[in-house]
Amino acid sequence: MTLNEIFTRIDDVSIAVVGDFCLDIYWLADMTRSRLSRETPHFPLPVVNERMSCGGAGNVACNVAALKPKEISVYGVVGADWRGQVLEKLLRDAGVATAGLIELDGRFTNAYCKPLRKGFSDVVYEDPRLDFENAEQISESTQRGILDAIKACSADVICVCDQLTSGCIGSVLREGLCDLGKQGRIVLVDSRDRIGSYRNVIVKPNDLEASEVCAGEKDPEKTVRYLSAINGKPAFVTLGDQGCIVCENGKTVRVPGRRVLPPIDICGAGDTFMSALACAIAADCPLSEAALFANTASAVTVKKLFVTGTATREEIAALWN
Ligand SMILES: Nc1ncnc2c1ncn2[C@@H]1O[C@H](COP(=O)(O)OP(=O)(O)OP(=O)(O)O)[C@@H](O)[C@H]1O
Ligand SMILES: [Mg+2]
Repeated sequence: MTLNEIFTRIDDVSIAVVGDFCLDIYWLADMTRSRLSRETPHFPLPVVNERMSCGGAGNVACNVAALKPKEISVYGVVGADWRGQVLEKLLRDAGVATAGLIELDGRFTNAYCKPLRKGFSDVVYEDPRLDFENAEQISESTQRGILDAIKACSADVICVCDQLTSGCIGSVLREGLCDLGKQGRIVLVDSRDRIGSYRNVIVKPNDLEASEVCAGEKDPEKTVRYLSAINGKPAFVTLGDQGCIVCENGKTVRVPGRRVLPPIDICGAGDTFMSALACAIAADCPLSEAALFANTASAVTVKKLFVTGTATREEIAALWN
């Protein structure tokens, strides 16, 4: 399939993203403006710049949106706070349908606030992060509500971002998503800690996550085969700058990564990979070509420094040949 054929087909696909939606907040403080507080023995952080972007499932959704599918819709929860409103607006502005985001009282919107300091030089130092993470899983009835909404949507591929310990995806929603996979819906899953808990879905862990599921086995040929076998579906294992490995019907193919020269910023590479892979699979792309497409999209964002970043069709085309 040519790249143009892939793009033309993506024009007609619909993608759903379910999971842990987060807001990333960056506060840049110019310490040359700081004066010792009169009340406390501390120098305050005079914020001169504030930047916010979607993280977690939100970053996957924004990356899907950048590829211009027919439709991208999201399913998950936010808290009844300003961070939830900002997150929803960022998603809407990116072209994402947010009707499936439920606002829950008594919960935070998951947010990661990064205070950054600069002094006389341009070097920026990161302070410890302020993490807004909920201590409790969402209720089973909320999980059922989210599952019903996903069942009712006609997305060609359902992307699952199951990242937080007490996040959106508890056992009820996880089992429901596995059932959808069993019924023939295409479900594509990324999870740092629980990739081994899924069945009947297409998984895309990185090599470390895959190894953890396989009792420490390091060889990605073996781990990808195992993951594909336990799911009864194709599987992908990503290999950083080495690209990825795909297993389909017991046969593995290595798909090399795009070589990019330093400086690089690998933050969010996995999310871009997932998004592009979802679109290419929805477009009926053969899986090794879908993997090449995903490698190329993530190589685009790897070149974007200090931002999580998304890859547009034009940027992918520029790297394709
Ligand atoms: N240095 C790099 N050069 C080129 N491509 C890269 C590089 N690092 C990552 N990629 C691309 O991004 C994909 C995903 O990267 P990786 O295997 O590191 O995933 P990950 O560990 O899940 O990432 P994340 O930290 O975002 O969760 C790779 O399969 C590859 O296509
Ligand atoms: Mg990852």
